Amino acid sequence: MKRRGSSGRWLDRQRKDQFVKQAQDGGWRSRAVFKLEEIDKRDQLIRPGQRIVDLGAAPGGWCQYAARKLKGQGTIIGLDLLPIDALDHVELIQGDFLDDEVLAELSDKVQNKPLDLVLSDMAPNFSGIRDADLARSYELAELALDFAVKHLGQGGAFLVKVFQGADFESYRDQLRAAFAKVAIRKPGASRAESRELYLLARDPISDHNEQEQD
Ligand SMILES: C[S@@+](CC[C@H](N)C(=O)[O-])C[C@H]1O[C@@H](n2cnc3c(N)ncnc32)[C@H](O)[C@@H]1O
Repeated sequence: MKRRGSSGRWLDRQRKDQFVKQAQDGGWRSRAVFKLEEIDKRDQLIRPGQRIVDLGAAPGGWCQYAARKLKGQGTIIGLDLLPIDALDHVELIQGDFLDDEVLAELSDKVQNKPLDLVLSDMAPNFSGIRDADLARSYELAELALDFAVKHLGQGGAFLVKVFQGADFESYRDQLRAAFAKVAIRKPGASRAESRELYLLARDPISDHNEQEQD
């Protein structure tokens, strides 16, 4: 039997994966689009006219989906470390969300007008050292939360990818302190063996928002 390294196993899995095929057939840039689609169908997140920021947007599946749902009305800003091919009705920023200058560029584009939705599908490149990987992913999730709290308007929503692990409960508590409603979502397209989950937080608590800005 032929030996397979982890990249070989990933390729095998991609070839068999129904969502990879569905994404290719539908002209989507990533299988991740089906995670957002499932959550959106259940929770009705995206509507024409909204202002949306998508953090960790490459290769652009979530932006594509959001753009289709906005039907040309509204704003989407996608940000990633990696380049993203241009998409109609989507403004793109290439840079590290952890970098102050990149955050300033994003905040400039947001122009202090309240957002309706902040999405974060950001995940660091995993090194295989579990605790370090989890810590890096929660660092991204925490900074995404700070951004969401600062920029979401009344009735806004924040959807963020997290990984089950030691920091999960305390991160969920941070969301509960900042939003009226917090729910866990594990869409079908999220691989069952993955520790990945999504937290959906809705209705920012305005007191919290004001305290954060003091
Ligand atoms: C799972 S992918 C996102 C897939 C995307 N939702 C889609 O549908 O195409 C995670 C992304 O997070 C990005 N990322 C990780 N750390 C980041 C950082 N510090 N700043 C910006 N993007 C980051 C990665 O480059 C990667 O493209």
